[in-house]
Amino acid sequence: MADTPQRTIIYWLFIVAVLTGTAHGQLIENFYASTCPMVEAIVKQTVNTKVSQTFTTIPATLRLFFHDCFVEGCDASVIIASPNGDAEKDSSDNLSLAGDGFDTVIKAKQAVEAVCPGVVSCADVLAIAARDVVVAAGGPLFNVQLGRRDGLISKASRVEGNLPLPTFNVNQLNTMFARHNLTQLDMIALSGAHTLGFSHCNRFANRLYSFSSSSKVDPSLDPTYAQQLMASCPQNVAPDIAINMDPVTAQTFDNVYYQNLVAGKGLFTSDQVLFTNPSTQSTVNDFANNPGDFNGAFITAMRKLGQTGVKTGNQGEIRRDCTAFN
Ligand code: HEM
Ligand SMILES: *[C@@H]1O[C@H](CO)[C@@H](O)[C@H](O)[C@H]1NC(C)=O
Ligand SMILES: *[C@@H]1O[C@H](CO)[C@@H](O)[C@H](O)[C@H]1NC(C)=O
Repeated sequence: MADTPQRTIIYWLFIVAVLTGTAHGQLIENFYASTCPMVEAIVKQTVNTKVSQTFTTIPATLRLFFHDCFVEGCDASVIIASPNGDAEKDSSDNLSLAGDGFDTVIKAKQAVEAVCPGVVSCADVLAIAARDVVVAAGGPLFNVQLGRRDGLISKASRVEGNLPLPTFNVNQLNTMFARHNLTQLDMIALSGAHTLGFSHCNRFANRLYSFSSSSKVDPSLDPTYAQQLMASCPQNVAPDIAINMDPVTAQTFDNVYYQNLVAGKGLFTSDQVLFTNPSTQSTVNDFANNPGDFNGAFITAMRKLGQTGVKTGNQGEIRRDCTAFN
């Protein structure tokens, strides 16, 4: 069927809109619509297969996305392997990223390459997989903006000072998130990711055994929860022991994380201060009482997180193997 003049004009307007959008470094939802239309279905299939093999896939992939975006932007720099052990993932600050997150992205990218070689970035595969694991854990479904390119820099030395520490207070959290264009509301919503996954004992042991000169135990901890934590994490516990961060619904993406904060059951200082600090308390109460508010804010914040320092257009590259530069 021949195109009418109107259709031709609409078609060209669409092309121009897409081109100017990407030229300005913006991501769009349908980026691979013509070049790899199956990409999201392929990633989801890989993610769900891996989730059925091991639950750790879920928290590991979500956290990997966060660490990737906060260091050098969302550009899959965290997945690069270095023979010298000086890549981003080798940093002492990588906070023991679980191997299942890396494995998920590497496998999903291989499956995508088999269908559309050289088209989809590892950074986009990670962004899609991070959404898919949230959904797999019962969290909200949302659209992921795409068009990221893979970065050309991955250095352990760039990690230091770019990731938040579990000892941070609200001001320190706000400062670090603001540097990545994220608001306090985004920060509180993204912290809800701690509704899933594990932490090693040494990340919060100070709250149990050496909090301050006047109190060895952090007084903002619920006393019963503190007892449970001491039982799971005695002093001098083996360094590989890890416990659930959400003591109530550890394997479900839900707003129980915020209910825990209200009950004094936030695992890290950086979690509990969201309730004890008056400037963040009302949001925590809101999220604890209204799962829809939390889900909405989480989706907004994840999409913003996914725009941090992205490379688009001709920047960076489309890596063939996510663990190595081309
Ligand atoms: C707000 C500041 C944050 C701090 C201080 C923080 C700190 C930490 C720490 C210390 C751990 C435990 C690591 C271990 O011992 O293995 C952890 C785990 C985790 N974090 Fe965060 N995090 C923050 C924000 C985020 C955000 C924004 C996300 C994702 C959107 C996230 C997702 C996770 C997940 C899913 C785990 C569990 C990982 C696993 O089980 O493998 N965190 N975080
Ligand atoms: C994280 O860093 C530690 C210490 O530098 C290193 O032994 C470990 O292999 C790193 N983890 C990953 C997943 O690269
Ligand atoms: C934050 O937003 C500004 C303005 O849009 C942009 O220039 C900058 O690159 C962004 N920073 C990050 C870390 O994404």
